Amino acid sequence: MAHLISSTHLLQTARQNGYGVTAFNVHTLEMLQAVVEAAEELQAPLILQTTVGTVKHLGPDYIVAAAAAAAKRSSVPIALHLDHCTDYELIVQCIREGYTSVMIDASMHPFEENVRQTQEVVKVARAAGVNVEAELGKVGGVEDDIVVADEDALLADPDECVRFVELTGVPTLAPAIGTAHGIYKGEPKIAFGKLEEIYRKVSLPLVLHGGSGIPEEQVKRCVSLGMAKMNVATELRIAFSDAIKKVFQANPDENDPRKYMVPAKAAVKELAQAKMRLTGCVGRAKDFI
Ligand code: 13P
Repeated sequence: MAHLISSTHLLQTARQNGYGVTAFNVHTLEMLQAVVEAAEELQAPLILQTTVGTVKHLGPDYIVAAAAAAAKRSSVPIALHLDHCTDYELIVQCIREGYTSVMIDASMHPFEENVRQTQEVVKVARAAGVNVEAELGKVGGVEDDIVVADEDALLADPDECVRFVELTGVPTLAPAIGTAHGIYKGEPKIAFGKLEEIYRKVSLPLVLHGGSGIPEEQVKRCVSLGMAKMNVATELRIAFSDAIKKVFQANPDENDPRKYMVPAKAAVKELAQAKMRLTGCVGRAKDFI
C-alpha cells in the first residue's frame, strides 16, 4: 500500500460490510513484524497500535519509521494508532510524527469535559487527515498506566453516545459494554442489549476494547453489532513472553536474541491470525484496492 493510511475509511468499510479490523498493541520490532506478516498472509487490513508507555519506551519516530517500512513492503492497508492517550500534547506530537489514528481517552472525566477534550483532538486530527477514537463509559482493568477497578467500570449510555458523537464529530467510538483490559476471571459479562441499542442509534464504526480472552461467539456477536475494530494487547504479550521463557527454560545460557525472538515472533503471528479469523477480516484487503 506504499504508506500508512488513516483508519477512518478502513473502519467505516468494516462496519458497512459487517466485519472487524484487528488492532494489535505492539511493543517491539518483532511484534510489529509478526502482526504485519500475519495480515499479509491472510490479506487482512491491519491496525498497528502502541500505548503511551510504548511511545515513551521506543520513541514515536522509531515506531513510525518501523510501521512505515512495514506499510511500504506490504500489500494490505495498514494504519498506525495511538491507544488510550490522555495527553493532548503527546497526541499532537504523534500526529506530527506520522501516526494516522489517535485515541483521546477522557473517559475518566465528566461527560462535558470528555466532549471538550475530544472536540479539541478532532479539530487537530481532522486537519491532518488522521482518525480519532474516543471512549464513553469506562472500560475496566489495566492498560499501561490507566487502571480502572471493577467497581469503577461503567457501561456507556446509548443516548449519551448519540449526543457525544453529535457534539464532538468523532469518527470512531469506543463504548464501554462490559469488556475489560487484561485477562478475564470467568467470562466477560457483555451488555449486548446496550450494544444493540448503540448499534441502532450510532452509525459510526464502534471499537471493542479488551479483546484478549473474549469467547469466540461473543466476539462474533459484537462484530455483528457494529464493533468494527477489536483491540488485542494482553494475549499477544503473553504469547510473546511465554515463547521466550520456553527458550530459556530449555537453554538458560542462551545469549543470542535471535534465538528467542524467532519463536516469540512465530507465537505472536499465530495468535494474530486466530484473532483475524474471529473478526472476519481475512481476505478483506481487497476492499481497499
Ligand atoms: P486486552 O489487553 O484485554 O487485549 O485489551 C486491549 C485493549 O483494549 C487496548 O486498548
